[in-house]
Amino acid sequence: MPYSPSLTRADVTPKRLFLNRRALIAGAAALAATPAFPAGFSTDEAPNALEDITSYNNYYEFGFDKTDPAAYASKLTTDPWSVTVDGLVDNPGTYPLAELIAGLPIEERIYRFRCVEAWSMVVPWQGLQLSGLLEKLGVQAGAKYVAFETLHRPEEMPGQSRPGIEWPYREGLRLDEAMHPLALLATGLYGAPMPNQNGAPIRLVVPWKYGFKSIKAIVRITLTDTQPQTTWNMLQPNEYGFYANVNPKVDHPRWSQASERRIGGGLFAGRVDTPMFNGYEDHVASLYTGQDLAKDY
Ligand code: MTE
Repeated sequence: MPYSPSLTRADVTPKRLFLNRRALIAGAAALAATPAFPAGFSTDEAPNALEDITSYNNYYEFGFDKTDPAAYASKLTTDPWSVTVDGLVDNPGTYPLAELIAGLPIEERIYRFRCVEAWSMVVPWQGLQLSGLLEKLGVQAGAKYVAFETLHRPEEMPGQSRPGIEWPYREGLRLDEAMHPLALLATGLYGAPMPNQNGAPIRLVVPWKYGFKSIKAIVRITLTDTQPQTTWNMLQPNEYGFYANVNPKVDHPRWSQASERRIGGGLFAGRVDTPMFNGYEDHVASLYTGQDLAKDY
């Protein structure tokens, strides 16, 4: 079913069918070589409706309001799309997207998504493991971080003509975080190509970190030996750290991170407690052994 922004909840594949399809894909994946956490990637929580996921967005290139991306992102040209790969990598270059990701398996994964603003969603993504791409590109020995940049195209991204943020939007991960099998480069959601407002044609999803790490519309991937500058950390370093791990014990200076509001939960839905690492603690806690996560926030 091709994505159309006018889709309603009723147009979306019923959850039962969707899960069956997932089971099929999981079965196929199980036959493939050594998946790291067989069938353990997806949450059992019910995904948010497509309508929630595509109408309540943060994408400052299109404005500051949650409804701006859905209203304006359709103007963005996402095909053709190329991604520049540079830095400490064996195969640098500027690749058409299809060539960049050719041969890498696309998986479906239902992830919890926790925004630093203390709301959350559950999203059924499709995407490829970032680790697979990095292996294909050939990471060189000295690389310690992966930096990402979003497209800079003010003609199509009106927010980039306003002052405030130093464009392009940029983000980064430590190499071991980037190689973690949970880190996904998502190319779609709900079984359809990525809606523009969610970061078409390719965006990062790092489910144990606050949503702002999950950079949209990626055009550049750089392997580097130094910690890269990241947009929110550049803007407000005391509020947004480089790590940005979901941590209910470390509050944002202006609000608590102990609980969250699930988008689409209804007017009277209560707040739910936020789990450490957004529920992915068993998978990722070992990445941070010996680190003080109140300091490395
Ligand atoms: N990527 C770019 N390029 N620009 C942005 O403003 N916002 C981030 C992240 N990626 C942002 C971005 C923030 S703050 C969040 S919470 C998520 O995108 C929102 O993703 P969603 O709209 O798919 O829920």
